[in-house]
Amino acid sequence: MMDLFSQIEAPERAEIVALRKELEDANYRYYVLNMPTLSDREFDEKMRRLQDLEALYPDMADKNSPTQHVGSDLSAKSDKGFEQVAHRYPMLSLANSYSLDEIQDWLRKLPADAEIVCELKYDGLSISLWYENGDLVKAVTRGDGQKGDNVIDNIKTIASIPWHVDGVPAHFEMRGEVLMPWASFERLNHEREEQEEPLFANPRNAASGTLKLLDPKEVKRRELTCYLYYMLGEDLPAQTHYERLETARQWGFPVSDAVKVCHSLDEVNDYISYWDTERKNLPVATDGIVLKVNNLQQQQSLGYTAKTPRWAIAYKFPAERQLTKLRQISYQVGRTGVVTPVANLDPIQLSGTVVQRATLHNEDFIRSLHLREGDMVWVEKGGEIIPKIVSVERENNNESDAETNYTFPRVCPECGTPLVRIEGEAAWRCPNESGCAPQQIGKIVHFVSRKAMNIDGLGEETIDLFYREGLLHTIADIYSLRKEDIARLDGLGDKSADNMLAGIEASKSVPWSRVLFALGIRMVGETTAKKIARRFTSIETLQWATKEQLTAIDDVGDQIAENIISYFMDIKNLEIVNRLRDAGLQFEDTEAGNGPLSDKLEGKSIVISGTFAHHSRDEYKEMIEAHGGKNVGSVSKKTSFILAGDNMGPEKRKKAESLGVPMISEDEFIEMLS
Ligand code: IVH
Repeated sequence: MMDLFSQIEAPERAEIVALRKELEDANYRYYVLNMPTLSDREFDEKMRRLQDLEALYPDMADKNSPTQHVGSDLSAKSDKGFEQVAHRYPMLSLANSYSLDEIQDWLRKLPADAEIVCELKYDGLSISLWYENGDLVKAVTRGDGQKGDNVIDNIKTIASIPWHVDGVPAHFEMRGEVLMPWASFERLNHEREEQEEPLFANPRNAASGTLKLLDPKEVKRRELTCYLYYMLGEDLPAQTHYERLETARQWGFPVSDAVKVCHSLDEVNDYISYWDTERKNLPVATDGIVLKVNNLQQQQSLGYTAKTPRWAIAYKFPAERQLTKLRQISYQVGRTGVVTPVANLDPIQLSGTVVQRATLHNEDFIRSLHLREGDMVWVEKGGEIIPKIVSVERENNNESDAETNYTFPRVCPECGTPLVRIEGEAAWRCPNESGCAPQQIGKIVHFVSRKAMNIDGLGEETIDLFYREGLLHTIADIYSLRKEDIARLDGLGDKSADNMLAGIEASKSVPWSRVLFALGIRMVGETTAKKIARRFTSIETLQWATKEQLTAIDDVGDQIAENIISYFMDIKNLEIVNRLRDAGLQFEDTEAGNGPLSDKLEGKSIVISGTFAHHSRDEYKEMIEAHGGKNVGSVSKKTSFILAGDNMGPEKRKKAESLGVPMISEDEFIEMLS
């Protein structure tokens, strides 16, 4: 009899053990590595399943189960860099649900007179700001809920967080969410793409990775933001959560405008449906709505579970997802030879667009999902993020089968050269830089692109055609193109040939820093190229630079230095450079040492804020300096004006307005210098 029972129970007991392990792993990937593999939805579903099973098997209760503690962002690395601080009040998580029915059940169980505060659920990472006698003294991450990392230097780079507040209690904490706005996230990922660094999957991961950096200057550059949603401490003013938030707002803390007190189920439902659409217009990511009991006494009598308060719950917006067939895995070779696997899917509609391809990142990703061609896969588009395969729907669920079946190609799908996998990197790479078509074409496309040589009239399709016709093999061939060769090709007449040649001619005056960027040396992006060109004002000096000299430049690490050195060791590259020099390209900085371009901004202190369409912030900084001005970080009485882009920080704007500092748009600024 006994045996029979344990046999019946065994699969579920084993499932408890397996789920605990899987959820611990997922927590680690999410909070520490910032590289989640499970979607939030899957994570929540598995957590729910584990909670249900643990309720069925109380004898398996374990205080170390992931159902009993919050995920931890503490890492071995952060131990070295940050002071670890014990939280005065544990930092908890929120119970959550994707079901409106469950939200209603929760509401019905509250005292009849309970008011509900509805807030947006910001999708970043939580932070606790400690104020002592009005001064910000610590900024602690959630850590494992009991202790966290003090990241105050990084937090101080967030303009809206006050370093000091007047007229406040001697000790209190403000808790809230640190976020990376969509605009900053996109800019950061764009930069990382240029530098061939791994991209962040979403703004939350980017914010979290940023807050754990040991270089506040870099944190500042990445522009985080913050919303605060919880005040706590002893002897604080106000008896309701809402009043406390309003008080915090008056003290100068960044509190969201979207906070609302609701008195009925209908009001809550209206709030949810309003924000389900409206949140798409916000500058930051949100993943749901938080409902909190307003009255603090009622909160207290409802109390807490080990992990969550009973007086609050989150409703999470479902990410749009669809099931479709993975027809085939194909392989794309990029400009630098990295081979990326791509999923070719049966087309589906997701958030208004047709999706039929999704990146599979690399071999490890395919293996971790146990993917194989013919599988039915769930594809999700969360927020503005590119579509992603989140899981496989397999009936017999025979994962080991799929795993052993899959092998990444060992030779380049384009040129047949054996692929190499650099130690420590997930990617396979084709080493045949100068003989593999997509790499050669990719290099030419990069060379002519707007931020590089900006050659009008020579687009990707034309380059492809010229390559196939044997007119272009390397970037140097561009300067040997002859009108009669171009004009005889399909779809290209005399006029296009003239345009193209004019564009090629004009590119000869593109300055040295952009020529350096255009060469396409691995990991030398636009900004890095500028910094290198400022230090090495001609290709001759750069060619002989040592690793030490190179790494002394801001932004240039060992890897980039090695890439530059090996670029100039390759005879084929030297030939290309020589031909380009003969063609008349700028291989030295003719303006270096000539002093400022003008004194139009002489004596002016200028703050740059927001995001811009025509130039990067770094470029504006350079322009300010080149015209005799000074770029400063924060707004004060002495600020001459603010160069104001889109999404300027509200605190900066407020401060500028109160001090009467003028704000100049990007276009006005360019006009001013022209
Ligand atoms: S209140 C004791 N309010 O969601 C309750 N949390 O999934 C503390 N979050 O750890 C949390 N927006 O990082 C609260 N308006 C909001 C929130 C919010 C986002 C985060 C917070 C929390 C997580 C739980």
